[in-house]
Amino acid sequence: MLLRTAAPRPLRRWVPVLFLLALLVGACSPEHYAQTALRPLSDFAKIGDDIQTTTIWWAFGVFVLVEGALLYAIFRFRGKPDDPEPQQVHGNTAIEIVWTVIPALILAAIAVPTVKGIFETSARPPADALKVEVIGHQWWWEFRYPDLNLTTANEVHIPVGQTVSFRMGTADVVHSFWPPRFAGKRDVFPNRETRLWFKAEAAGEYPGQCAEFCGIQHGRMAFRVKAQTPEEFQTWVSHMQTLGPKPPPAAEAPTAGDSVQVASAGASLRQAGASQDPQYATGEKLFQAKGCVGCHSLTAFNAPKGMIGPNLADVGARSYIGAGSFKNTDETLARWIQNPQAMKVGVLMPNLGVTAEEAKSLVGYLRAHQ
Ligand code: CUA
Repeated sequence: MLLRTAAPRPLRRWVPVLFLLALLVGACSPEHYAQTALRPLSDFAKIGDDIQTTTIWWAFGVFVLVEGALLYAIFRFRGKPDDPEPQQVHGNTAIEIVWTVIPALILAAIAVPTVKGIFETSARPPADALKVEVIGHQWWWEFRYPDLNLTTANEVHIPVGQTVSFRMGTADVVHSFWPPRFAGKRDVFPNRETRLWFKAEAAGEYPGQCAEFCGIQHGRMAFRVKAQTPEEFQTWVSHMQTLGPKPPPAAEAPTAGDSVQVASAGASLRQAGASQDPQYATGEKLFQAKGCVGCHSLTAFNAPKGMIGPNLADVGARSYIGAGSFKNTDETLARWIQNPQAMKVGVLMPNLGVTAEEAKSLVGYLRAHQ
């Protein structure tokens, strides 16, 4: 109502357009989109972001100048109905040289930082970088820490402030490793190693995604990057190194001074508590009987290589299951165990005919692994 009386007619016509424009610009805000490349959190990601920002500013300048000149020409030289035919011209060497040289200079200004960025992000990582091996599988990610002798899946823990050097490959088809807050995409290939490194600048949990079509569940081949302070990361490493498949017999109680045995005792005591739970004991039996053990290892330290399914040593502590697809709750885990094919069609884990009661026990058993 106010608009109808206050705004002059030509201005009113623009109100819906401005409204839509505001909506569009609002939708571009990265605040509510975790999987954005527009808020870089590492040295690698900042190199790409700087190049993008530089390019956008050049494009913006060109847009303003070209569209400005166009609008000026439209209004300044608008013809009237009784104007004579304008003078016909063809070719102008000076103008053609100018509009060839200027774009060439602009492209050079964009090319220099781009090429520099390509070399910087392809350079060798520093010698003190933390090594992580990434293996793509249909449709999940395996992460190995060769120097720490640890294996995990779908959630990669990294320390903030230290360069992490990823050496990547695949167990089957081509995938693409993409942690958008930290780095650009890097395809992973069979029989060929690709590399990627970055230094995370902020702790937190961030999403990652397979970015190359790799089969029916490509969209559900996500992962999480858990960036931790160096202290938190060290605690996680020490803890993971204690994770074994089952509590050793009580007779194998540790002797003081033996750090390896003390470490495994931490796990055994914790899991011994869990093993009092009848759910845990039943779940442990089912894990063998239903054949889970054939595809999944429950050992993080010195884990067997070449397992078909994701390592589950710390599955109880993970944020998601099904490669970043479903929140890790007892309810989703039980549903998954009973009918993975319904939750992720085509996933390589078959339905094993697990009853609701059995699933509950298996959840109890797996939940203790964290
Ligand atoms: Cu793996 Cu797409």
